[in-house]
Amino acid sequence: MTTLPRQGTPWPELQQEMQGAAKDDVDWRNGRVPMFIHYAGDDVLDVAKQAYLMYFSENGLGLRAFRSLARFESEVVQMGLGLLHGGAAAKGAMTTGGTESIFLAVKAARDLAHARDPRPGRAQIVLARSAHPAFDKAAHFMGLDTVRTPLQADYRADPAAMAAAITPQTVMIVGSVPAYPHGVIDPIGELAALAQSRGLWMHVDACVGGYFAPFARQLGAVVPDWDFALPGVTSISADLHKYGYAAKGASTLFFRDAESFAGMGWSFDNWPRGQYFTHTLVGTRAGGAIAAAWAVMKYLGEEGYLRVTERVLATRQALQQGAAALGLPTLGDPQLSILAYGCPDHDVPAVSRAMTARGWVMGHVTEPPGIHHMLNLTHEPVVGRYLADLSDALQGARLDGGAGRSTLEARY
Ligand SMILES: Cc1ncc(COP(=O)(O)O)c(C=O)c1O
Repeated sequence: MTTLPRQGTPWPELQQEMQGAAKDDVDWRNGRVPMFIHYAGDDVLDVAKQAYLMYFSENGLGLRAFRSLARFESEVVQMGLGLLHGGAAAKGAMTTGGTESIFLAVKAARDLAHARDPRPGRAQIVLARSAHPAFDKAAHFMGLDTVRTPLQADYRADPAAMAAAITPQTVMIVGSVPAYPHGVIDPIGELAALAQSRGLWMHVDACVGGYFAPFARQLGAVVPDWDFALPGVTSISADLHKYGYAAKGASTLFFRDAESFAGMGWSFDNWPRGQYFTHTLVGTRAGGAIAAAWAVMKYLGEEGYLRVTERVLATRQALQQGAAALGLPTLGDPQLSILAYGCPDHDVPAVSRAMTARGWVMGHVTEPPGIHHMLNLTHEPVVGRYLADLSDALQGARLDGGAGRSTLEARY
């Protein structure tokens, strides 16, 4: 058991110990991990780190004290809304991550529905089977129910199934750009029209695609309208710590207008310390995360994001084509940075074990069984090596007449 040491340890010793401790961590810099990391180059990382360190001690809770952080946050929100066709009335704020953005969108939708039409019973969110678990987590924490509907054959949300699941208790419907499991973009246009016709809140979860899809579209990817350009979209979550390439602890949550935005905040004054107001679930916020997001957005600019996006798209295409050449078909038609491929003639757990033995951390999908990647520039130079290892791994994993599939233990 570790207890607090009686005496302190000099930093050089601690640094050495920490370097040693990290020796068994995955070698993410060499593209060995298919998620968790969003790398856009050492220069971008350096800008994020320096900006973060400049604001290491400052607190995003204290925007009255740290006016510069208030300015950075406001400019980050404006830049994000500019990308996502937010109109003059659109508003937003930074949060610490996708889960927090989703929590706050759910809270705002619940509160607005309650204010407009208070009714007994638990409020409900209708979402596709592929939507992120953060919605269920938020619903569980805040006393709502979720109803997950089956996907279409191409793994996109099925608007008809979602329409059929709507009840008088429904306060929100959800679409994803893209959904994490297969990386495909839900039919947001149809879902937004459905939301509008039923007077419902429509949240677009663009935690992955918020800062990727606009650039991919400019580069020719098939990305139909999905943001505030569609009148039925009420709120959008977009993570800066994914394809915004900011330091971790940074996301944005945007709202179509002041009325929907009002539910994001929470204020309280029934204690002896005056008024307390936050837009976030958390109180104290890392000033560094706000500063780093601002600095990286300004550093990259539209041209920088386009350059990186183009390379990530090319990496996905190379991986997709290489896997297809090995008989591993892409699941659905992913247009962005996530790729999942199936293994119809192979046992996925056996492929996965063989790849793990070759030093790759593997990600999985379960419906149908397959392998999952969320790509960034660390993968660009290792696609060839990955495919060569995959080709070897497939040798021992063929399903023949007798051998059945083994159970896949897919973990996030
Ligand atoms: C589509 C989607 N939504 C939400 C989240 C949650 O984001 P976070 O892990 O930053 O809380 C993720 C994370 O991968 C995601 O892929």
